[in-house]
Amino acid sequence: MAHETLLVIDDELLIRRSIARRLQAAGYEVVEAEDGRSGLAEAAAGIDLAIVDFRLPDIDGIQVLTQLKQSYPDIIVILLTAYASVDTAVQAMKLGAYHFANKPFDLEALVVMVEQALETTRLRREVRRLHQSQAAPYRLDHLVGDAREMREFKALLARIAASPASTVLLTGESGTGKDLTAKILHYTSSRASKPFVNITCSALPETLLESELFGYERGAFTDARQQKRGLFEQADGGTVFLDEIGEMTPPLQAKILRFLEEKAFRRVGGSADIRVDVRVVAATNRTLEDEVSAGRFREDLFYRLNVLPLRLPPLRAHLEDVEALVRFYIDTFNREFKKNIAGISPAALTLLRSHSWPGNVRELRNVVERAMLLATGDLLEPIDFPMAHARSGTQGFQLPADGVVLEQVERDLVRQALDRVDWNRTRAAKLLGLNRDQINYRIEKFKLQQ
Ligand SMILES: Nc1ncnc2c1ncn2[C@@H]1O[C@H](COP(=O)(O)OP(=O)(O)OP(=O)(O)O)[C@@H](O)[C@H]1O
Ligand SMILES: [Mg+2]
Repeated sequence: MAHETLLVIDDELLIRRSIARRLQAAGYEVVEAEDGRSGLAEAAAGIDLAIVDFRLPDIDGIQVLTQLKQSYPDIIVILLTAYASVDTAVQAMKLGAYHFANKPFDLEALVVMVEQALETTRLRREVRRLHQSQAAPYRLDHLVGDAREMREFKALLARIAASPASTVLLTGESGTGKDLTAKILHYTSSRASKPFVNITCSALPETLLESELFGYERGAFTDARQQKRGLFEQADGGTVFLDEIGEMTPPLQAKILRFLEEKAFRRVGGSADIRVDVRVVAATNRTLEDEVSAGRFREDLFYRLNVLPLRLPPLRAHLEDVEALVRFYIDTFNREFKKNIAGISPAALTLLRSHSWPGNVRELRNVVERAMLLATGDLLEPIDFPMAHARSGTQGFQLPADGVVLEQVERDLVRQALDRVDWNRTRAAKLLGLNRDQINYRIEKFKLQQ
């Protein structure tokens, strides 16, 4: 299936139309232009290939070619000409024309030329994509999970990474992957070869944070013997990750806002504006709307940041991914601990899927890590997980190898439940999933006394 958009620039209506029709029939989207300038305007909408007549009423084909290639290096240009001298042909090739078609040309041959040209760009793009994806230390697929919530999140993440957006707001509960996402945003963007600078706003007192971010001039304060460049300057061309932005004090919030709006800042003690090109990724696990209502976060900064919000779902919203995440961490810790755990038992998986994960993926990671250190068998079992012991159901109880006397176990449990709640029968019954009659019956039957 062809999804490419092609542009035909020719002032001769008949020729232009016949080319356009034939290419449309081949399944391409085709736009037409009757002179060079309107052709260049059409190209701005995103064109994969342009067929350009050499002789146009306003500017000639070589100029169109030059400008197209300058603005869109990936575009393929095929020049049409009735009278190509060797010189122009050579010049056009040097400028990046893919091919010449001599007029009168064969329409079918032109279609084949178009198809071949598009095929080479597809290959080139694929090679580049593979190359980038292998070189990147953080890739989209490092975010494990393909429940709908995660798929949507990753699709948006990819689009934002590829966009020129200069500000991104990352929100989500603690442990949902904001740090990881910020790195993926950087390393899958065109800024990947420039610095990724990470600063935790809550880790430093206000004055230190300010001088870390913006730098300072010599003499700005007692210890400032040398001028120092701040993180914004060091990150020029790259990404600044402002983690825990919700903890930033109002005066600093004002400075960040100014930077976001004007792309300029001053060093502490400085009077000159410094301009840099950085993408700011701000993250918080607080709900900034609430912080704004409470007067702790500037509303204008919130709106400025919230232009491109990326919200990570809590793990309890995509429990389908628990299995993939557990497998991912089993692999990780097998390598790290030189273990050979084959997987997780269905009962243990059910247990993990029914947990609410207040600590999100970080909690799951910790729980699997601990389980792998404890596990004695091949598979992770319910007993290896702390929630097995916290639960009131029977799932966590393991039958000892030499068995039990069920009546005895039942008697012990009823006794423990009563003792725990000072013999409040209603509450004890609740702990055991019984009603009052049922617990009274057992108190009689086992002859229990306070
Ligand atoms: N979808 C995921 N796939 C794989 N690993 C993940 C995923 N989400 C989070 N993690 C991992 O979970 C741990 C916690 O994630 P991270 O540090 O990014 O959380 P956070 O959202 O920044 O939390 P906090 O608000 O507490 O700073 C990290 O080890 C991270 O690599
Ligand atoms: Mg974090």
